[in-house]
Amino acid sequence: MASQAIFLLLLAHFIGQVPEINAKIPAVIVFGDSTVDSGNNNEISTVLKSNFEPYGRDFPGGKPTGRFCNGRLATDFLSEAFGIKPAIPPYLDPAYDISEFATGVCFASAGTGFDNATSDVLSVIPLWKELEYYKEYQDQLRKYLDNEKANQLLSKALHLISIGTNDFLENYYVSSSTSSQYSVGEYQNFLIGIATDFINQLYQLGARKIAITGLPPMGCLPLERTTNILFGSNCIEEYNNVAKDFNKKLQGSIMKLTKEHDGIQLVLANIYDILSEMIDNPNSFGFEDVEKACCGTGYIEMGYICNRTNLFTCSDANKYMFWDSFHPTEKTNSIVADYLFKNYFSQFNDR
Ligand SMILES: *[C@@H]1O[C@H](CO)[C@@H](O)[C@H](O)[C@H]1NC(C)=O
Ligand SMILES: *[C@@H]1O[C@H](CO)[C@@H](O)[C@H](O)[C@H]1NC(C)=O
Repeated sequence: MASQAIFLLLLAHFIGQVPEINAKIPAVIVFGDSTVDSGNNNEISTVLKSNFEPYGRDFPGGKPTGRFCNGRLATDFLSEAFGIKPAIPPYLDPAYDISEFATGVCFASAGTGFDNATSDVLSVIPLWKELEYYKEYQDQLRKYLDNEKANQLLSKALHLISIGTNDFLENYYVSSSTSSQYSVGEYQNFLIGIATDFINQLYQLGARKIAITGLPPMGCLPLERTTNILFGSNCIEEYNNVAKDFNKKLQGSIMKLTKEHDGIQLVLANIYDILSEMIDNPNSFGFEDVEKACCGTGYIEMGYICNRTNLFTCSDANKYMFWDSFHPTEKTNSIVADYLFKNYFSQFNDR
């Protein structure tokens, strides 16, 4: 027995030389906004949709699914990297049921934010409602598997949250009712409070592996550069600084939450730096343009104005960092997923 244990330890040691993930992740469960929405907005009445061409033109079958992308999202690539499945279905799509959702499901809604007022802007699904859907999903899962198996699956599944950009760009910086109520620092704290509460609730519901992505360099989104035309269409540094600050505060809350909760594996899956690197060194990632988007003129088009009548849409999206004026290309998503997988999820293990 003892020698067998030693052998296994040695084996683990040698295998440990190559980056690998120890935990068997049985499902990826997704919350958030358009960065990870795989099609929930198709099922609700909002103007913020993308289930038409040229969206999805590089998705398997060339199908516009409601993903705000020419192809797959970072969460789809992560699911594939865990050896589960190549795409995560949207919870509200009646074409899928619990047998499919048991190995991964998406509750995200394009246009939403931490703040209820953000989801109100375009009548999309508020974050609290995503959690209500998650509870409903847990009930279905417990009926589909038995209780014990469902609980095990939930504790091993990766719960990933990607949200927050809209709170600033669709709400705080365009709505005087929000910006007159909070200073930007206060608003960050308000949002961090909601994030903390959300993570607490996930933990109470049995989630143990949780990742939250923090904010991207949102001042460099093509649409924001367009509004900065008087300043050479440069990135809006103020927005990038707000994102960096927010991520620092979020990291603080994550450390606190980790101390408070037994057995939690919680990470800030930081997307800021890898996206910044792409912007600073486009060539090393094979990009020819990281400022304008592929769709349309690349300056403003997204959602329904990014459609097939637009003659300027690029032919090879892989040369672009951004697909539309607000969202990354599939290529960017695959680089981000690869980065997150190697840098964060390899430390997740079974406890
Ligand atoms: C958002 O709305 C929900 C539902 O009305 C409510 O329960 C929740 O407290 C609100 N969140 C905040 C931060 O006000
Ligand atoms: C398609 O996009 C153009 C601008 O790019 C816009 O004027 C037009 O209304 C859009 N068509 C539809 C059906 O939304």
